[in-house]
Amino acid sequence: MDNHVTRRQMIEGIRRAEPVFFRNSPRPQMVLGQGAEKSRVNPGGVADAADRMRRAQGLLARLFPESAFADRPGQIESPLRVLMASVPLLAKCDGALPIAGSIKARGGIHEVLCHAEELALEAELINPGDDLLQLAAGQSRRLFAEHEICVGSTGNLGLSIGIAARALGFRAVIHMSRDAKQWKKQLLRSHGATVVEHEGDFSAAVQVGRAASADSPRSYFVDDENSTRLLYGYAAAAHPLRAQLAKLGVYPTADSPLCVYLPCGVGGGPAGIAYGLALEFGAAAVESYTVEPTQAPALLLAVLEERYEGLHVSDYGLTLTTDADGLAVGSPSVLAGPIIGALCSGLYTESDEAMRAYLKQFYASDGLRLELSAAAGLGGPARRAQIEGLRTPSAHLVWLTGGGLLPEDEFQRLLR
Ligand SMILES: Cc1ncc(COP(=O)(O)O)c(C=O)c1O
Repeated sequence: MDNHVTRRQMIEGIRRAEPVFFRNSPRPQMVLGQGAEKSRVNPGGVADAADRMRRAQGLLARLFPESAFADRPGQIESPLRVLMASVPLLAKCDGALPIAGSIKARGGIHEVLCHAEELALEAELINPGDDLLQLAAGQSRRLFAEHEICVGSTGNLGLSIGIAARALGFRAVIHMSRDAKQWKKQLLRSHGATVVEHEGDFSAAVQVGRAASADSPRSYFVDDENSTRLLYGYAAAAHPLRAQLAKLGVYPTADSPLCVYLPCGVGGGPAGIAYGLALEFGAAAVESYTVEPTQAPALLLAVLEERYEGLHVSDYGLTLTTDADGLAVGSPSVLAGPIIGALCSGLYTESDEAMRAYLKQFYASDGLRLELSAAAGLGGPARRAQIEGLRTPSAHLVWLTGGGLLPEDEFQRLLR
């Protein structure tokens, strides 16, 4: 923590919706070393996700012929860009991820594939470890048509799950919060997904979706508040990043760590990335920071209060009002919270005004076309620079988490 501010004082600042920066003391041994046996994640899960995504390349290329990364069809990867060579400031451009245009493509498509593979194995249509191209065959599609995949989402996870599930032939039911953007609902409907709209917030949509799915036979619920399959899909991003960094001459070490800024909603995305990076480079060689809207700091409050269940930002007088729809989350994921608490070097908040200013600034300087949630981390290096006594980084990496499917008129509205 910023040594001059006590936890209580910080919580008072959060209640007033002020931007705050909490310097955390990571305890990576809780998830990586001794103590890790109590953790719900393990390195095998990340390796398994990377292997599944590799076995799915032919399938994804068949289902989504336009999906490719670096001329490799069916590969769900994104470019790493240099924004300002002098800092150096790097941007991981997950808005460019094929199919879903956001970081949610990583976790969401992985979880849909897990479930499809599981069903096909049970039906003896494939064998363990097979190439998943067979999941596009008629027999598999007929099987999937009898099943439903259901999820509660602020928007982008719904897009990722809905588009992937429909392409495989599943029914898809997406429960959306009131904050969810209309264009995301329309896009999902155009893919044949059923969108159920809720008056309540994201947490309420997840709760209703979970109950509805449990009542419905042959329905599988993707639980954004608790899913290791999603988390492993995000974590698999870390290994390919090593080669991308090396191409730019960036080699994170404990003496000069990689500083990574991660927009945070329910926490699954940032927890997965932070976990993957800690495994790939070693916890000491990475500083991961989460960023949340000043009106929705669910993970920051959870880490400050050391309470990962039963907490909602409305208990602190906050409203969840933010244009960063993907980050409009009041309660933390019970899976992601302790991982973020153990691995992240800091958690901070940003106002919508600041996010909008970064969005405009980086559109002008680098042509970045982002949704507001995706722009949240752009101020990370400047915010970290205000903290004394930190190491000199090998690079700052801002994870730009979405915006790939954003319609032009929505982007123009944000710029205004
Ligand atoms: C663009 C974008 N960035 C970041 C996030 C945060 O991910 P998580 O909710 O897993 O913390 C989301 C969530 O939907 C998102 O849509």
